[in-house]
Amino acid sequence: MRILFLVSAFNSLSQRLHAELRDLRHTVEVHVAGDEGALRAALDRFGPDLVLAPMLKSAVPEDVWSAYTCLIVHPGPPGDRGPSSLDRAVQDGVAEWGVTVLQAEREMDAGPVWASASCPLPPGCAKSDLYRGEVADAAVAAALLAVERFAAGGYRPQPQHGPGWREPIRTRPYLRQEQRRIDWSADPTEAVLRRLRAADSQPGVLDELLGAEWYLHGGHPEPELRGRPGALLATRSGAVCRATADGAVWIPELRRRRTPGGPETFKLPAVTALGALLPRVPEVLAPLMGAEGRAPAWTDIGYREEGPVGFLRFSFPGGAMSTDHCRRLLDAYRFALGRPTSVLVLGGGRDFFSNGIHLNVIEAAADLARESWANITAIDDLVAEVLTTTDRLVVAALGGNAAAGGVMLALAADEVWCRQGAVLNPHYRLMGLYGSEYWTYSLPRRVGAAEAERLTERAQPVSAEAAHRIGLVDRVLACAPADFGPTAAHLAGLLAASPTVQDRIAAKKAARDADERARPLAAYREEELAVMRRQFRDPAAPYHALRAAFVRKRPAPAGAAALCSGEH
Ligand code: COA
Repeated sequence: MRILFLVSAFNSLSQRLHAELRDLRHTVEVHVAGDEGALRAALDRFGPDLVLAPMLKSAVPEDVWSAYTCLIVHPGPPGDRGPSSLDRAVQDGVAEWGVTVLQAEREMDAGPVWASASCPLPPGCAKSDLYRGEVADAAVAAALLAVERFAAGGYRPQPQHGPGWREPIRTRPYLRQEQRRIDWSADPTEAVLRRLRAADSQPGVLDELLGAEWYLHGGHPEPELRGRPGALLATRSGAVCRATADGAVWIPELRRRRTPGGPETFKLPAVTALGALLPRVPEVLAPLMGAEGRAPAWTDIGYREEGPVGFLRFSFPGGAMSTDHCRRLLDAYRFALGRPTSVLVLGGGRDFFSNGIHLNVIEAAADLARESWANITAIDDLVAEVLTTTDRLVVAALGGNAAAGGVMLALAADEVWCRQGAVLNPHYRLMGLYGSEYWTYSLPRRVGAAEAERLTERAQPVSAEAAHRIGLVDRVLACAPADFGPTAAHLAGLLAASPTVQDRIAAKKAARDADERARPLAAYREEELAVMRRQFRDPAAPYHALRAAFVRKRPAPAGAAALCSGEH
């Protein structure tokens, strides 16, 4: 079928559905909503059988839904209506939720239901993590069923009224900042965390801190530190710890509220965002390897072992890796290499594996070219360490999506395991960059030169299954997001116990030595970085306009986007 996606943004769920529908041989075109004239022109030109809206914040125009069947993916169970469904579910601490695919009609979310699927909302997860995990799994199941029913013909969707309808109708309005507000003197940690998680990653919780207004992004419990409610107690790895009525929470990122007429603001690691406003508080580090029997401290990088398998877990907001993240992860990786293991699993958490260099931190730097350079060389150093690990097997375990340099970081490992449903974007073009992270070595090594060129030039999202078919990943784990870590750990245990593991390590070392003789890794790096250096230093390079737009969530400037396809 010919399916037109109508989206407010080509976001993670749209990308995943796009990739999965293409895998099923449907022809999919994406149209970003905004200009109704452009939408009508796209419909006339493309002539879709079906319009599908995986993530649409605005209404479908009446003449469009009258002429075409338009299916809306609503992140709530049948009968639920309103624009903040998932935010409210997380803020209310709901354990079971769902997704409904309904037909667009005059009243929002009130059309007949084509399909629905339920899903758990495990406690302790942020809204956007759930949206890319359990909710996305349910959304894909329901949307594919709806598409199948539509394609087969004859299916009569269930109207949300009448004798066949059993669900209560619940219309709830937009969740406003007043209803998200935290009362630091009265709210216990549990309530504070629910509010922070319901607003993470967007829109954040609007709050006052150190005499200014900020959106708080992300929240993790702190087991030990205590202080006057509302006070900042400590910093850790760029996050700040703030006391609640009965405990404390870690807040990794902040965004300053835009002042009237002032510049647009964007999210940054909390310590960077506060800058000189930050009072003198201690940097309280968490041990890389947690101590037995103690409540786990929140940390963005952690290491543990199970027999001959080491697990280096890391989790950075939005999958973005700043210079500091890369250097700390490299230190942790070197620590892991000092341990007596034969298999090292990199990643393994829920949600993003990595999305490459941290575009927001770069955007906030006084010298953009210098920070871009520092970040790319720091991530290259990390990737080089993985590529040159020859005394054990390294597995990259992708519980969630990866893009650009984040995919190339995974490809540096010996095996890449991916959760079914993860979406990979193995390209840099949309950010106007040539790319580094030794991609010119590791991408063709895995998929061949022709496929590497296709992936980087077409710059399309790739589903886990498609990535497996072309050799980009070795194993697809069909499990729920919550089960990915344990499943990967079990498989890593089997790998370490296999009788061939030492032979594989020896073969890997020989292959690396042969590759190094054929062309040293340093030569790949040098060539990639020569192009990157030019792109960083040239203020007219599309990268700068594209990055500036990306961090401010503005559409990519047309000129820069068109130019970057001709770069290099
Ligand atoms: N630097 C900073 N922030 C990043 C980031 C990066 N490299 N990659 C993703 N993010 C942030 C996004 O701004 C977004 O923030 P929000 O949740 O506050 O809105 C969040 O991570 C999730 O990303 P989003 O774009 O909403 O996810 P998506 O699934 O819709 O799209 C990508 C995924 C990877 C296609 C898109 O995020 C992207 O193009 N990232 C940049 C990749 C890149 O070019 N990296 C640099 C070269 S190595």
